[in-house]
Amino acid sequence: MTRPFCLLAIICASIFLSACQPVEIKPGYADAIASAHPLATEAGIEILQQGGNAFDAAITVTSVLAVVEPYSSGIGGGGFYLLHRDADQKRIMLDGRERAPLAATRDMYLDEKGNVIPKASIDGALAAGIPGIPASLVHLAEHYGNLPLTQTLAAAIRHAREGFPVDDIYRKMAGFRLKAMQQDDDARAIFLRAGDVPELGTIITQPDLANTLEAIATNGMQGFYHGEIAQRMVEDVRANGGIWSREDLAEYRVVEREPITGTYQQWQITSAAPPSSGGVALVSMLNMLENLPDAKADAEMKTHQLTEVMRRAYRDRAEFLGDSDFVDVPVNKLINKSHAKNLLQNYQSDDATPSEALKAIPVPGDRSQDTTHFSILDKDGNRVSATLSINYPFGACMVAKGTGVLLNDEMDDFSMKPGVPNVYGLVGAEANAIEPGKRPLSSMSPSFVDGPDGFAIIGTPGGSRIITMVLHGILAYTRDASAQAIVSQPRMHHQYLPDTIQLEPGALSEDIRDALTLRGHRLSALTNTFGNMQVITVRGDDIQAASDPRGIGSAQVTR
Ligand code: DON
Repeated sequence: MTRPFCLLAIICASIFLSACQPVEIKPGYADAIASAHPLATEAGIEILQQGGNAFDAAITVTSVLAVVEPYSSGIGGGGFYLLHRDADQKRIMLDGRERAPLAATRDMYLDEKGNVIPKASIDGALAAGIPGIPASLVHLAEHYGNLPLTQTLAAAIRHAREGFPVDDIYRKMAGFRLKAMQQDDDARAIFLRAGDVPELGTIITQPDLANTLEAIATNGMQGFYHGEIAQRMVEDVRANGGIWSREDLAEYRVVEREPITGTYQQWQITSAAPPSSGGVALVSMLNMLENLPDAKADAEMKTHQLTEVMRRAYRDRAEFLGDSDFVDVPVNKLINKSHAKNLLQNYQSDDATPSEALKAIPVPGDRSQDTTHFSILDKDGNRVSATLSINYPFGACMVAKGTGVLLNDEMDDFSMKPGVPNVYGLVGAEANAIEPGKRPLSSMSPSFVDGPDGFAIIGTPGGSRIITMVLHGILAYTRDASAQAIVSQPRMHHQYLPDTIQLEPGALSEDIRDALTLRGHRLSALTNTFGNMQVITVRGDDIQAASDPRGIGSAQVTR
Protein backbone atom coordinates (compact mmCIF):
# COMPACT_ATOMS: atom_id res chain seq x y z
CA MET A 1 0.00 0.00 0.00
CA THR A 2 1.25 3.50 -0.80
CA ARG A 3 1.70 5.83 2.14
CA PRO A 4 -1.44 8.02 1.67
CA PHE A 5 -3.60 4.92 1.24
CA CYS A 6 -2.06 3.32 4.27
CA LEU A 7 -2.84 6.41 6.35
CA LEU A 8 -6.37 6.53 5.01
CA ALA A 9 -6.87 2.88 5.88
CA ILE A 10 -5.67 3.44 9.42
CA ILE A 11 -7.94 6.47 9.85
CA CYS A 12 -10.95 4.59 8.40
CA ALA A 13 -10.25 1.57 10.56
CA SER A 14 -9.98 3.65 13.69
CA ILE A 15 -13.21 5.53 12.87
CA PHE A 16 -14.90 2.18 12.28
CA LEU A 17 -13.51 0.73 15.49
CA SER A 18 -14.47 3.72 17.59
CA ALA A 19 -17.97 3.64 16.08
CA CYS A 20 -18.38 -0.07 16.87
CA GLN A 21 -16.70 -0.31 20.24
CA PRO A 22 -18.82 0.76 23.18
CA VAL A 23 -17.11 3.73 24.83
CA GLU A 24 -15.49 2.57 28.05
CA ILE A 25 -17.16 4.55 30.79
CA LYS A 26 -16.29 3.87 34.40
CA PRO A 27 -19.36 2.91 36.41
CA GLY A 28 -20.95 5.98 37.89
CA TYR A 29 -19.29 8.38 35.45
CA ALA A 30 -20.96 10.19 32.56
CA ASP A 31 -20.94 13.49 30.74
CA ALA A 32 -23.13 15.89 32.69
CA ILE A 33 -23.58 19.65 32.69
CA ALA A 34 -25.89 21.97 34.58
CA SER A 35 -25.69 25.63 33.63
CA ALA A 36 -27.79 28.77 33.71
CA HIS A 37 -28.53 28.84 29.96
CA PRO A 38 -29.63 26.05 27.57
CA LEU A 39 -27.28 27.30 24.81
CA ALA A 40 -24.31 26.98 27.16
CA THR A 41 -25.26 23.48 28.36
CA GLU A 42 -25.79 22.37 24.77
CA ALA A 43 -22.46 23.76 23.55
CA GLY A 44 -20.63 22.19 26.51
CA ILE A 45 -22.13 18.74 25.85
CA GLU A 46 -21.11 19.05 22.17
CA ILE A 47 -17.51 19.75 23.16
CA LEU A 48 -17.51 16.69 25.44
CA GLN A 49 -18.82 14.64 22.53
CA GLN A 50 -16.05 16.01 20.29
CA GLY A 51 -13.44 14.54 22.64
CA GLY A 52 -13.06 17.46 25.00
CA ASN A 53 -12.83 16.88 28.74
CA ALA A 54 -14.61 18.69 31.58
CA PHE A 55 -12.03 21.50 31.44
CA ASP A 56 -12.57 22.07 27.71
CA ALA A 57 -16.31 22.09 28.38
CA ALA A 58 -15.75 24.64 31.16
CA ILE A 59 -14.09 26.94 28.60
CA THR A 60 -17.01 26.52 26.21
CA VAL A 61 -19.71 26.98 28.85
CA THR A 62 -17.94 30.05 30.30
CA SER A 63 -17.62 31.69 26.90
CA VAL A 64 -21.18 30.95 25.76
CA LEU A 65 -22.57 32.27 29.05
CA ALA A 66 -20.43 35.38 28.53
CA VAL A 67 -22.33 35.97 25.30
CA VAL A 68 -25.91 34.87 26.05
CA GLU A 69 -26.12 35.82 29.73
CA PRO A 70 -24.45 39.25 29.58
CA TYR A 71 -26.15 40.36 32.79
CA SER A 72 -24.39 37.63 34.79
CA SER A 73 -20.82 37.05 33.72
CA GLY A 74 -18.49 37.82 30.86
CA ILE A 75 -14.96 38.13 29.59
CA GLY A 76 -14.90 41.53 31.29
CA GLY A 77 -15.42 39.77 34.63
CA GLY A 78 -13.88 37.16 36.89
CA GLY A 79 -14.59 34.04 38.88
CA PHE A 80 -13.41 30.88 40.58
CA TYR A 81 -13.07 27.42 39.03
CA LEU A 82 -12.83 24.46 41.37
CA LEU A 83 -11.16 21.63 39.42
CA HIS A 84 -10.87 17.91 40.08
CA ARG A 85 -8.67 15.92 37.69
CA ASP A 86 -9.51 12.30 38.23
CA ALA A 87 -6.37 10.69 36.76
CA ASP A 88 -4.08 12.06 39.49
CA GLN A 89 -6.79 13.23 41.92
CA LYS A 90 -5.43 16.78 41.64
CA ARG A 91 -7.73 19.43 43.11
CA ILE A 92 -7.15 23.14 42.77
CA MET A 93 -9.06 26.38 42.77
CA LEU A 94 -8.29 28.48 39.73
CA ASP A 95 -8.56 32.08 40.95
CA GLY A 96 -9.58 34.28 38.02
CA ARG A 97 -10.92 37.01 40.27
CA GLU A 98 -10.60 40.63 39.12
CA ARG A 99 -7.81 42.74 40.62
CA ALA A 100 -7.97 46.37 41.71
CA PRO A 101 -6.13 48.61 39.22
CA LEU A 102 -2.62 49.63 40.29
CA ALA A 103 -3.80 53.24 40.64
CA ALA A 104 -6.58 52.23 43.06
CA THR A 105 -6.55 53.84 46.49
CA ARG A 106 -8.21 52.97 49.74
CA ASP A 107 -10.55 55.98 49.71
CA MET A 108 -11.22 56.16 45.99
CA TYR A 109 -14.99 55.92 46.45
CA LEU A 110 -15.21 58.50 49.27
CA ASP A 111 -15.92 62.23 48.88
CA GLU A 112 -13.91 64.93 50.65
CA LYS A 113 -16.07 64.51 53.76
CA GLY A 114 -15.28 60.81 53.85
CA ASN A 115 -18.74 59.68 52.72
CA VAL A 116 -19.21 56.95 50.13
CA ILE A 117 -20.02 58.50 46.72
CA PRO A 118 -23.28 56.84 45.62
CA LYS A 119 -22.88 54.43 42.67
CA ALA A 120 -19.20 55.26 42.08
CA SER A 121 -18.28 51.61 42.67
CA ILE A 122 -21.29 50.27 40.77
CA ASP A 123 -21.86 52.20 37.51
CA GLY A 124 -19.25 53.09 34.89
CA ALA A 125 -15.52 52.79 34.31
CA LEU A 126 -14.29 53.51 37.85
CA ALA A 127 -16.22 50.51 39.17
CA ALA A 128 -14.31 47.98 37.08
CA GLY A 129 -11.58 45.66 38.26
CA ILE A 130 -9.06 44.09 35.87
CA PRO A 131 -10.80 41.11 34.22
CA GLY A 132 -9.70 37.55 34.97
CA ILE A 133 -11.93 35.41 32.74
CA PRO A 134 -9.83 35.58 29.53
CA ALA A 135 -6.72 34.53 31.49
CA SER A 136 -8.71 31.71 33.10
CA LEU A 137 -9.79 30.39 29.71
CA VAL A 138 -6.22 30.43 28.42
CA HIS A 139 -4.93 28.75 31.59
CA LEU A 140 -7.60 26.01 31.44
CA ALA A 141 -6.74 25.32 27.79
CA GLU A 142 -2.98 25.28 28.33
CA HIS A 143 -2.87 23.21 31.51
CA TYR A 144 -5.99 21.05 31.67
CA GLY A 145 -7.88 20.82 28.37
CA ASN A 146 -7.37 18.58 25.31
CA LEU A 147 -8.66 20.90 22.62
CA PRO A 148 -7.47 24.21 21.14
CA LEU A 149 -9.25 27.45 22.07
CA THR A 150 -10.25 27.89 18.42
CA GLN A 151 -12.48 24.84 18.92
CA THR A 152 -13.70 25.47 22.48
CA LEU A 153 -14.51 29.15 21.83
CA ALA A 154 -16.17 28.52 18.45
CA ALA A 155 -19.73 28.25 19.82
CA ALA A 156 -19.42 31.53 21.73
CA ILE A 157 -18.02 33.30 18.68
CA ARG A 158 -20.94 32.01 16.61
CA HIS A 159 -23.55 33.10 19.17
CA ALA A 160 -21.91 36.53 19.42
CA ARG A 161 -21.91 36.98 15.65
CA GLU A 162 -25.30 35.46 14.83
CA GLY A 163 -27.06 36.63 17.97
CA PHE A 164 -29.28 35.11 20.65
CA PRO A 165 -32.93 35.85 21.55
CA VAL A 166 -33.85 38.04 24.50
CA ASP A 167 -35.58 36.07 27.29
CA ASP A 168 -37.59 37.09 30.35
CA ILE A 169 -34.62 37.22 32.72
CA TYR A 170 -32.69 39.42 30.28
CA ARG A 171 -35.65 41.81 30.19
CA LYS A 172 -35.92 41.87 33.98
CA MET A 173 -32.20 42.55 34.45
CA ALA A 174 -32.03 45.13 31.65
CA GLY A 175 -35.04 46.92 33.18
CA PHE A 176 -33.30 46.96 36.56
CA ARG A 177 -30.13 48.51 35.05
CA LEU A 178 -31.82 50.59 32.34
CA LYS A 179 -30.74 54.06 33.54
CA ALA A 180 -27.10 53.09 33.86
CA MET A 181 -27.01 51.37 30.46
CA GLN A 182 -28.59 54.37 28.74
CA GLN A 183 -25.53 56.39 29.78
CA ASP A 184 -23.02 54.35 27.76
CA ASP A 185 -22.98 54.44 23.91
CA ASP A 186 -21.90 50.86 23.28
CA ALA A 187 -23.98 49.29 26.09
CA ARG A 188 -27.06 51.15 24.84
CA ALA A 189 -26.47 50.16 21.21
CA ILE A 190 -25.80 46.49 21.98
CA PHE A 191 -28.17 45.67 24.83
CA LEU A 192 -31.08 48.11 24.39
CA ARG A 193 -33.43 49.00 21.51
CA ALA A 194 -34.34 52.67 21.02
CA GLY A 195 -32.88 53.24 24.48
CA ASP A 196 -35.32 50.81 26.11
CA VAL A 197 -35.55 47.17 27.19
CA PRO A 198 -35.75 45.02 24.03
CA GLU A 199 -38.90 43.02 23.29
CA LEU A 200 -38.93 39.29 24.03
CA GLY A 201 -37.22 37.39 21.23
CA THR A 202 -35.21 40.39 19.93
CA ILE A 203 -31.91 39.07 18.54
CA ILE A 204 -28.85 40.52 20.31
CA THR A 205 -25.73 40.36 18.15
CA GLN A 206 -22.27 41.29 19.48
CA PRO A 207 -19.86 41.46 16.51
CA ASP A 208 -17.15 43.31 18.48
CA LEU A 209 -17.29 40.68 21.21
CA ALA A 210 -17.01 37.98 18.52
CA ASN A 211 -13.81 39.66 17.29
CA THR A 212 -12.41 39.89 20.82
CA LEU A 213 -13.19 36.22 21.47
CA GLU A 214 -11.50 35.37 18.18
CA ALA A 215 -8.42 37.30 19.25
CA ILE A 216 -8.31 35.23 22.48
CA ALA A 217 -8.85 32.01 20.49
CA THR A 218 -5.95 32.68 18.15
CA ASN A 219 -3.54 34.71 20.31
CA GLY A 220 -4.31 33.63 23.89
CA MET A 221 -3.23 36.15 26.57
CA GLN A 222 -1.72 38.37 23.90
CA GLY A 223 -5.15 38.73 22.25
CA PHE A 224 -6.76 40.36 25.29
CA TYR A 225 -4.15 41.67 27.74
CA HIS A 226 -1.73 43.15 25.18
CA GLY A 227 -2.02 44.75 21.76
CA GLU A 228 -4.91 46.54 20.12
CA ILE A 229 -7.83 45.31 22.22
CA ALA A 230 -5.98 46.10 25.46
CA GLN A 231 -5.17 49.58 24.10
CA ARG A 232 -8.82 50.24 23.21
CA MET A 233 -10.09 49.09 26.61
CA VAL A 234 -7.61 51.24 28.51
CA GLU A 235 -8.35 54.31 26.36
CA ASP A 236 -12.10 54.03 26.78
CA VAL A 237 -11.94 53.29 30.51
CA ARG A 238 -9.71 56.36 31.04
CA ALA A 239 -11.87 58.56 28.79
CA ASN A 240 -14.78 57.71 31.09
CA GLY A 241 -13.17 58.47 34.43
CA GLY A 242 -11.57 55.07 35.06
CA ILE A 243 -7.98 54.36 36.14
CA TRP A 244 -6.87 51.28 34.18
CA SER A 245 -3.39 51.23 32.64
CA ARG A 246 -1.70 48.98 30.07
CA GLU A 247 0.44 47.69 32.90
CA ASP A 248 -2.67 46.52 34.81
CA LEU A 249 -3.67 44.32 31.89
CA ALA A 250 -0.16 43.12 31.08
CA GLU A 251 0.40 42.13 34.72
CA TYR A 252 -2.83 40.20 35.25
CA ARG A 253 -2.26 36.56 36.25
CA VAL A 254 -4.59 33.80 37.41
CA VAL A 255 -3.53 32.01 40.59
CA GLU A 256 -3.85 28.30 41.36
CA ARG A 257 -4.82 28.04 45.02
CA GLU A 258 -5.29 25.14 47.37
CA PRO A 259 -9.03 24.81 48.02
CA ILE A 260 -10.49 25.00 51.52
CA THR A 261 -11.35 21.55 52.84
CA GLY A 262 -13.29 20.33 55.82
CA THR A 263 -15.51 17.53 56.99
CA TYR A 264 -19.13 17.32 57.99
CA GLN A 265 -20.00 14.00 59.64
CA GLN A 266 -18.97 11.42 57.01
CA TRP A 267 -18.72 13.88 54.15
CA GLN A 268 -15.71 15.77 52.84
CA ILE A 269 -16.20 19.36 51.70
CA THR A 270 -13.97 21.10 49.15
CA SER A 271 -14.67 24.74 48.37
CA ALA A 272 -13.32 28.13 47.39
CA ALA A 273 -10.31 29.66 49.16
CA PRO A 274 -9.67 33.39 49.76
CA PRO A 275 -10.20 35.81 48.10
CA SER A 276 -13.51 33.99 48.37
CA SER A 277 -15.03 33.82 51.81
CA GLY A 278 -17.16 30.87 50.70
CA GLY A 279 -15.09 27.86 51.72
CA VAL A 280 -14.12 29.26 55.12
CA ALA A 281 -17.69 30.26 55.98
CA LEU A 282 -19.14 26.97 54.73
CA VAL A 283 -16.74 24.79 56.69
CA SER A 284 -17.20 26.95 59.77
CA MET A 285 -21.02 26.66 59.54
CA LEU A 286 -20.86 22.89 59.03
CA ASN A 287 -18.46 22.57 61.98
CA MET A 288 -20.93 24.44 64.16
CA LEU A 289 -23.87 22.33 62.93
CA GLU A 290 -22.02 19.16 63.95
CA ASN A 291 -22.25 20.43 67.52
CA LEU A 292 -25.98 21.08 67.45
CA PRO A 293 -28.43 18.24 68.03
CA ASP A 294 -30.08 17.37 64.73
CA ALA A 295 -32.07 14.22 65.37
CA LYS A 296 -35.17 15.73 66.90
CA ALA A 297 -34.96 19.18 65.34
CA ASP A 298 -38.20 20.22 63.64
CA ALA A 299 -38.36 22.90 60.93
CA GLU A 300 -38.51 25.70 63.49
CA MET A 301 -35.53 24.41 65.50
CA LYS A 302 -33.57 23.75 62.32
CA THR A 303 -34.17 27.31 61.10
CA HIS A 304 -33.12 28.65 64.49
CA GLN A 305 -29.91 26.59 64.42
CA LEU A 306 -29.11 27.55 60.83
CA THR A 307 -29.69 31.21 61.57
CA GLU A 308 -27.36 31.14 64.56
CA VAL A 309 -24.53 29.43 62.67
CA MET A 310 -24.94 31.72 59.65
CA ARG A 311 -24.87 34.80 61.89
CA ARG A 312 -21.61 33.71 63.50
CA ALA A 313 -19.84 32.69 60.30
CA TYR A 314 -20.78 35.96 58.56
CA ARG A 315 -19.50 37.91 61.55
CA ASP A 316 -16.12 36.24 61.12
CA ARG A 317 -16.33 36.95 57.40
CA ALA A 318 -16.86 40.68 58.00
CA GLU A 319 -13.89 40.90 60.31
CA PHE A 320 -11.25 38.49 59.02
CA LEU A 321 -11.74 37.72 55.34
CA GLY A 322 -9.94 39.40 52.46
CA ASP A 323 -7.34 38.66 49.77
CA SER A 324 -4.82 36.38 51.49
CA ASP A 325 -2.05 37.66 49.17
CA PHE A 326 -2.40 41.02 50.94
CA VAL A 327 -3.70 40.33 54.43
CA ASP A 328 -3.12 37.58 56.90
CA VAL A 329 -6.38 35.59 56.88
CA PRO A 330 -6.39 33.16 59.84
CA VAL A 331 -7.92 30.39 57.70
CA ASN A 332 -6.81 27.45 59.82
CA LYS A 333 -8.16 29.00 62.97
CA LEU A 334 -11.47 29.91 61.36
CA ILE A 335 -12.13 26.40 59.99
CA ASN A 336 -10.90 24.61 63.08
CA LYS A 337 -13.50 22.44 64.88
CA SER A 338 -12.55 24.00 68.23
CA HIS A 339 -13.22 27.50 66.86
CA ALA A 340 -16.76 26.32 66.00
CA LYS A 341 -17.24 25.27 69.63
CA ASN A 342 -16.03 28.69 70.80
CA LEU A 343 -18.39 30.45 68.42
CA LEU A 344 -21.29 28.53 69.94
CA GLN A 345 -20.46 29.46 73.54
CA ASN A 346 -23.17 32.12 73.61
CA TYR A 347 -25.62 30.04 71.52
CA GLN A 348 -29.01 29.63 73.15
CA SER A 349 -31.32 26.87 72.03
CA ASP A 350 -34.39 28.93 72.94
CA ASP A 351 -33.52 32.45 71.93
CA ALA A 352 -31.93 34.38 69.08
CA THR A 353 -28.54 35.91 69.82
CA PRO A 354 -28.77 39.53 68.67
CA SER A 355 -26.05 40.25 66.10
CA GLU A 356 -25.06 43.40 68.02
CA ALA A 357 -24.20 41.17 70.95
CA LEU A 358 -21.55 39.56 68.76
CA LYS A 359 -20.08 42.82 67.55
CA ALA A 360 -21.39 46.28 66.75
CA ILE A 361 -21.17 47.28 63.10
CA PRO A 362 -23.74 49.65 61.52
CA VAL A 363 -26.78 47.99 59.96
CA PRO A 364 -26.71 47.72 56.15
CA GLY A 365 -29.43 47.30 53.51
CA ASP A 366 -30.21 44.44 51.16
CA ARG A 367 -30.02 43.73 47.41
CA SER A 368 -30.77 41.48 44.45
CA GLN A 369 -29.22 38.83 42.14
CA ASP A 370 -27.26 37.88 38.95
CA THR A 371 -23.78 36.16 38.40
CA THR A 372 -23.65 32.55 37.16
CA HIS A 373 -22.63 29.04 38.14
CA PHE A 374 -22.10 25.81 36.23
CA SER A 375 -21.24 22.25 37.21
CA ILE A 376 -19.56 19.76 34.86
CA LEU A 377 -18.63 16.08 35.08
CA ASP A 378 -17.05 14.07 32.27
CA LYS A 379 -16.96 10.35 31.68
CA ASP A 380 -13.38 10.17 32.97
CA GLY A 381 -14.49 11.55 36.31
CA ASN A 382 -13.05 15.05 35.88
CA ARG A 383 -15.13 17.72 37.57
CA VAL A 384 -15.53 21.48 37.38
CA SER A 385 -17.57 23.67 39.70
CA ALA A 386 -17.35 27.30 38.57
CA THR A 387 -18.98 30.51 39.76
CA LEU A 388 -18.35 33.54 37.55
CA SER A 389 -19.42 37.14 37.80
CA ILE A 390 -19.37 40.67 36.55
CA ASN A 391 -21.07 41.51 39.87
CA TYR A 392 -24.24 43.60 39.50
CA PRO A 393 -26.65 42.88 36.58
CA PHE A 394 -24.83 43.95 33.39
CA GLY A 395 -21.80 44.78 35.57
CA ALA A 396 -20.76 48.43 35.35
CA CYS A 397 -23.21 48.89 32.41
CA MET A 398 -20.33 50.07 30.27
CA VAL A 399 -18.89 48.37 27.19
CA ALA A 400 -15.31 49.35 26.31
CA LYS A 401 -15.80 50.99 22.91
CA GLY A 402 -15.26 48.76 19.91
CA THR A 403 -14.33 45.67 21.96
CA GLY A 404 -17.72 44.28 23.03
CA VAL A 405 -16.25 43.84 26.54
CA LEU A 406 -18.88 44.63 29.16
CA LEU A 407 -17.00 45.85 32.23
CA ASN A 408 -17.53 44.42 35.70
CA ASP A 409 -18.27 46.45 38.82
CA GLU A 410 -16.50 44.05 41.15
CA MET A 411 -14.70 46.92 42.97
CA ASP A 412 -17.94 47.23 44.97
CA ASP A 413 -17.04 43.95 46.69
CA PHE A 414 -14.28 45.77 48.55
CA SER A 415 -15.10 47.38 51.82
CA MET A 416 -15.33 51.05 50.77
CA LYS A 417 -15.26 52.18 54.35
CA PRO A 418 -15.28 50.03 57.51
CA GLY A 419 -18.84 49.15 58.48
CA VAL A 420 -20.48 50.67 55.39
CA PRO A 421 -22.41 47.95 53.53
CA ASN A 422 -21.86 47.15 49.87
CA VAL A 423 -24.62 46.52 47.37
CA TYR A 424 -25.40 43.13 48.98
CA GLY A 425 -25.59 44.62 52.45
CA LEU A 426 -22.26 43.06 53.41
CA VAL A 427 -20.01 44.90 55.79
CA GLY A 428 -16.27 44.53 56.00
CA ALA A 429 -13.25 45.86 57.73
CA GLU A 430 -9.53 46.33 57.27
CA ALA A 431 -8.94 42.90 55.72
CA ASN A 432 -11.04 43.84 52.70
CA ALA A 433 -9.92 47.47 52.27
CA ILE A 434 -8.92 48.58 48.74
CA GLU A 435 -5.24 48.23 47.77
CA PRO A 436 -3.59 48.38 44.34
CA GLY A 437 -3.57 44.94 42.71
CA LYS A 438 -5.64 43.36 45.49
CA ARG A 439 -8.61 41.08 44.77
CA PRO A 440 -11.94 42.05 46.34
CA LEU A 441 -13.46 39.61 48.82
CA SER A 442 -16.05 37.35 47.23
CA SER A 443 -18.88 35.10 48.37
CA MET A 444 -18.67 32.86 45.31
CA SER A 445 -18.46 29.28 46.57
CA PRO A 446 -18.04 26.62 43.89
CA SER A 447 -17.93 23.38 45.90
CA PHE A 448 -17.59 19.60 45.88
CA VAL A 449 -19.04 17.21 48.45
CA ASP A 450 -17.54 13.70 48.64
CA GLY A 451 -19.29 10.96 50.56
CA PRO A 452 -19.24 7.22 51.04
CA ASP A 453 -21.33 6.45 47.95
CA GLY A 454 -20.65 9.37 45.62
CA PHE A 455 -20.20 13.09 45.30
CA ALA A 456 -21.92 16.37 44.41
CA ILE A 457 -20.77 19.34 42.31
CA ILE A 458 -22.59 22.43 43.48
CA GLY A 459 -22.79 26.23 43.40
CA THR A 460 -25.01 29.22 42.73
CA PRO A 461 -24.99 32.99 42.20
CA GLY A 462 -26.75 35.21 44.73
CA GLY A 463 -24.36 37.77 46.18
CA SER A 464 -24.10 37.52 49.96
CA ARG A 465 -26.59 34.63 50.00
CA ILE A 466 -24.39 32.33 47.90
CA ILE A 467 -22.67 30.72 50.88
CA THR A 468 -25.85 29.92 52.79
CA MET A 469 -27.53 28.58 49.64
CA VAL A 470 -24.58 26.23 49.09
CA LEU A 471 -24.87 25.23 52.77
CA HIS A 472 -28.55 24.30 52.23
CA GLY A 473 -27.53 22.37 49.10
CA ILE A 474 -24.77 20.44 50.88
CA LEU A 475 -27.06 19.55 53.78
CA ALA A 476 -29.78 18.39 51.38
CA TYR A 477 -27.26 16.20 49.50
CA THR A 478 -26.13 14.61 52.76
CA ARG A 479 -29.80 13.83 53.49
CA ASP A 480 -30.20 11.98 50.17
CA ALA A 481 -32.17 14.68 48.35
CA SER A 482 -32.34 14.36 44.55
CA ALA A 483 -30.51 16.93 42.41
CA GLN A 484 -33.87 18.46 41.49
CA ALA A 485 -34.91 18.72 45.14
CA ILE A 486 -31.58 20.34 46.03
CA VAL A 487 -32.00 23.15 43.49
CA SER A 488 -35.73 23.58 44.12
CA GLN A 489 -35.97 23.70 47.93
CA PRO A 490 -37.07 27.06 49.42
CA ARG A 491 -34.26 29.03 51.07
CA MET A 492 -33.64 31.10 54.17
CA HIS A 493 -30.61 33.28 54.85
CA HIS A 494 -28.96 35.25 57.62
CA GLN A 495 -25.75 37.25 57.21
CA TYR A 496 -25.05 38.69 60.67
CA LEU A 497 -26.05 42.19 59.56
CA PRO A 498 -28.79 43.11 58.92
CA ASP A 499 -29.95 41.02 61.87
CA THR A 500 -32.85 39.49 59.95
CA ILE A 501 -33.75 36.06 58.64
CA GLN A 502 -34.43 36.54 54.93
CA LEU A 503 -37.04 34.12 53.60
CA GLU A 504 -38.01 33.17 50.09
CA PRO A 505 -41.77 33.14 49.44
CA GLY A 506 -43.15 29.89 50.88
CA ALA A 507 -39.94 29.05 52.76
CA LEU A 508 -41.62 28.61 56.16
CA SER A 509 -45.22 28.27 57.31
CA GLU A 510 -46.86 31.08 59.27
CA ASP A 511 -46.80 28.99 62.47
CA ILE A 512 -43.07 28.49 62.23
CA ARG A 513 -42.49 32.14 61.43
CA ASP A 514 -44.50 33.11 64.53
CA ALA A 515 -42.56 30.66 66.69
CA LEU A 516 -39.25 32.07 65.46
CA THR A 517 -40.42 35.61 66.21
CA LEU A 518 -41.20 34.49 69.75
CA ARG A 519 -37.62 33.29 70.10
CA GLY A 520 -36.48 36.84 69.26
CA HIS A 521 -35.69 36.45 65.55
CA ARG A 522 -36.52 39.22 63.11
CA LEU A 523 -37.93 37.91 59.85
CA SER A 524 -38.22 39.48 56.45
CA ALA A 525 -40.41 37.64 53.94
CA LEU A 526 -39.03 38.56 50.53
CA THR A 527 -41.19 38.83 47.45
CA ASN A 528 -38.30 37.69 45.23
CA THR A 529 -36.76 34.25 45.09
CA PHE A 530 -32.99 34.03 45.24
CA GLY A 531 -30.27 31.97 43.58
CA ASN A 532 -29.83 29.99 40.37
CA MET A 533 -28.22 26.77 41.59
CA GLN A 534 -26.68 24.24 39.18
CA VAL A 535 -26.00 20.80 40.63
CA ILE A 536 -24.70 17.37 39.64
CA THR A 537 -25.11 14.49 42.09
CA VAL A 538 -23.58 11.03 41.84
CA ARG A 539 -24.64 8.16 44.09
CA GLY A 540 -23.26 4.88 42.83
CA ASP A 541 -24.58 4.56 39.29
CA ASP A 542 -27.28 7.16 39.77
CA ILE A 543 -26.09 10.39 38.09
CA GLN A 544 -28.38 13.38 38.17
CA ALA A 545 -28.01 16.97 37.01
CA ALA A 546 -30.44 19.76 37.78
CA SER A 547 -30.82 23.43 37.04
CA ASP A 548 -32.62 25.76 39.43
CA PRO A 549 -36.29 26.24 38.45
CA ARG A 550 -35.90 29.91 39.42
CA GLY A 551 -33.81 30.44 36.26
CA ILE A 552 -33.96 29.43 32.61
CA GLY A 553 -30.99 27.04 32.70
CA SER A 554 -30.82 23.43 31.64
CA ALA A 555 -29.10 20.24 32.73
CA GLN A 556 -28.13 17.16 30.75
CA VAL A 557 -26.62 13.77 31.53
CA THR A 558 -25.40 11.65 28.60
CA ARG A 559 -23.72 8.25 28.70
O1 DON B 1 -18.08 37.87 44.28
C1 DON B 1 -19.14 38.10 44.86
O2 DON B 1 -19.39 37.69 45.97
C2 DON B 1 -20.20 38.90 44.13
N1 DON B 1 -19.60 39.75 43.17
C3 DON B 1 -21.19 37.95 43.52
C4 DON B 1 -22.34 38.69 42.92
C5 DON B 1 -23.53 37.88 42.72
O3 DON B 1 -23.60 36.70 43.01
C6 DON B 1 -24.68 38.60 42.18
N2 DON B 1 -25.81 37.79 42.12
N3 DON B 1 -26.69 37.34 42.44
